[in-house]
Amino acid sequence: MGAILNALFAVTIIFFTISSPTHGYDPLDPFGKIIIKWDLLQSLPGHHTVQVTIENKQEYRHVEKPGWKLSWHWENKEVIWGMTGAETTEQGNCSAFAASDNLPHCCLRRPTIVDLLPGAPYNMQVSNCCRGGVLTSMSQDSINHVSAFHMTIGSFPDEDTGEFIMPYDFDIGVPGYTCDNATSVTPTKFSTNKGRHKTQALATWEAVCVYSQFRSSQSPKCCVSLSAFYNQTIVPCPVCSCGCSSSHCVKPGETPPYLEQKHDPDEEVSPVVQCTKHMCPIHIHWHVKVNYREYWRVKITATNYNTMKNYSDWNLVVLHPNLKSVQQVFSFNYKSLTPYHDGINDTGIFWGVKFYNDVLLQAGEIGNVQTELLLKKDMGNFTFREGWAFPRRILFNGDECVMPSPDDYPRLPSSASSSSSFSSSVVSFDTILFCFLLLLLLA
Ligand SMILES: *[C@@H]1O[C@H](CO)[C@@H](O)[C@H](O)[C@H]1NC(C)=O
Ligand SMILES: *[C@@H]1O[C@H](CO)[C@@H](O)[C@H](O)[C@H]1NC(C)=O
Ligand SMILES: *[C@@H]1O[C@H](CO)[C@@H](O)[C@H](O)[C@H]1NC(C)=O
Ligand SMILES: *[C@@H]1O[C@H](CO)[C@@H](O)[C@H](O)[C@H]1NC(C)=O
Ligand SMILES: *[C@@H]1O[C@H](CO)[C@@H](O)[C@H](O)[C@H]1NC(C)=O
Ligand SMILES: *[C@@H]1O[C@H](CO)[C@@H](O)[C@H](O)[C@H]1NC(C)=O
Repeated sequence: MGAILNALFAVTIIFFTISSPTHGYDPLDPFGKIIIKWDLLQSLPGHHTVQVTIENKQEYRHVEKPGWKLSWHWENKEVIWGMTGAETTEQGNCSAFAASDNLPHCCLRRPTIVDLLPGAPYNMQVSNCCRGGVLTSMSQDSINHVSAFHMTIGSFPDEDTGEFIMPYDFDIGVPGYTCDNATSVTPTKFSTNKGRHKTQALATWEAVCVYSQFRSSQSPKCCVSLSAFYNQTIVPCPVCSCGCSSSHCVKPGETPPYLEQKHDPDEEVSPVVQCTKHMCPIHIHWHVKVNYREYWRVKITATNYNTMKNYSDWNLVVLHPNLKSVQQVFSFNYKSLTPYHDGINDTGIFWGVKFYNDVLLQAGEIGNVQTELLLKKDMGNFTFREGWAFPRRILFNGDECVMPSPDDYPRLPSSASSSSSFSSSVVSFDTILFCFLLLLLLA
């Protein structure tokens, strides 16, 4: 059994190595990327209007608070005269325009642009703006995964080249992403008059950004523990999954002084975790709860040990061969992810129900969310042996969680692994319980 488990582990490791998105390729989301699109809407000598759109085309990765921070490098001495739907973080040195009536919005060679916050003045808005730079994943939300702003571009006095030149060296300012230079694509068509008339951009360019967990952070951000009804042992997260306790952490009952400090809402705060053996900000527990004749039930709990953060729009991606037969998911949303559309849908995404558990609150008594799922047994493949009932991979917010070694998985009592009497006795127990409940209901 150990050998088989080890083989499984090795396969998982190999799979992770192959999929390890250092080069930005993710087999669970092969088309996942963020696209920065520039549409040139108007172009007069020395005065160009563009619409910039940032679209998150990833199934399960999202951009959370404090949001994207887009920057690029101008080719020549361009300036930004005005912006709607976003703003630059700095104006820079506009003293060359001191003699003119008004100053440009930004004169930097490398401007940094942030989204406006919700509730921005109406005349500063454009559609798809003003969400504080937050982009949802495509699976979770089909509207709020796009951000947009408009800007007018000119140039320094006596520096005007006339035509618009696309800038280079894009960065969306979210850890883990790198962007290519923009390339020219087919001009975007916009439909007006309820789709009866279509206009098109004068020119369109796209820059593609891809994610790598390795680039985002050296250490993992979550870990998995396992248990099953047939064994009392709870297999914990591997020790030091996300760092060791020598690193900084908060002991129970302790209020760290920096919690009381004011934080810059525009900065991502680095996690300060509660002290645990695994030291992860996020802990996932997978419990094989019940065995029925044709179904089995799993309980998944996600716990937040990060004292600095509420995870809004969190998601979990799970890989298990039985996910192709999900019968029911309680209190979470679920969608099957079938990246290759060839029927091997062993991967799914779970996320919270709006206004109920879509925010995983910071460490404390309410810092967890949980679900139960009912799976129909794949006759022929289903077994509680060899750790089959445990997940192959779990990702939290798109980052791989550390799993225990298969050698440590909860085992069936040895008497049961060689005969089927065990599972049938469980079935009959379930059946009795079920009949009992039915009687109660009827009574
Ligand atoms: C600002 O730009 C002007 C010319 O555009 C230059 O003469 C001046 O030295 C710059 N000021 C600073 C502080 O860099
Ligand atoms: C983008 O273009 C600039 C200048 O044209 C070049 O220096 C840079 O290496 C390019 N970046 C990438 C990622 O290709
Ligand atoms: C998380 O949410 C709770 C409840 O809404 C709030 O009291 C707390 O300040 C939030 N924490 C952070 C770090 O935003
Ligand atoms: C799995 O994929 C098949 C086709 O690819 C689809 O018919 C089926 O509904 C999927 N199962 C689930 C649970 O989504
Ligand atoms: C499960 O069993 C079916 C047929 O019994 C087979 O086609 C399928 O490949 C098996 N799946 C796995 C993951 O072993
Ligand atoms: C439960 O699983 C653990 C870990 O694999 C194993 O050491 C133990 O023997 C199992 N308990 C029983 C009663 O089989």
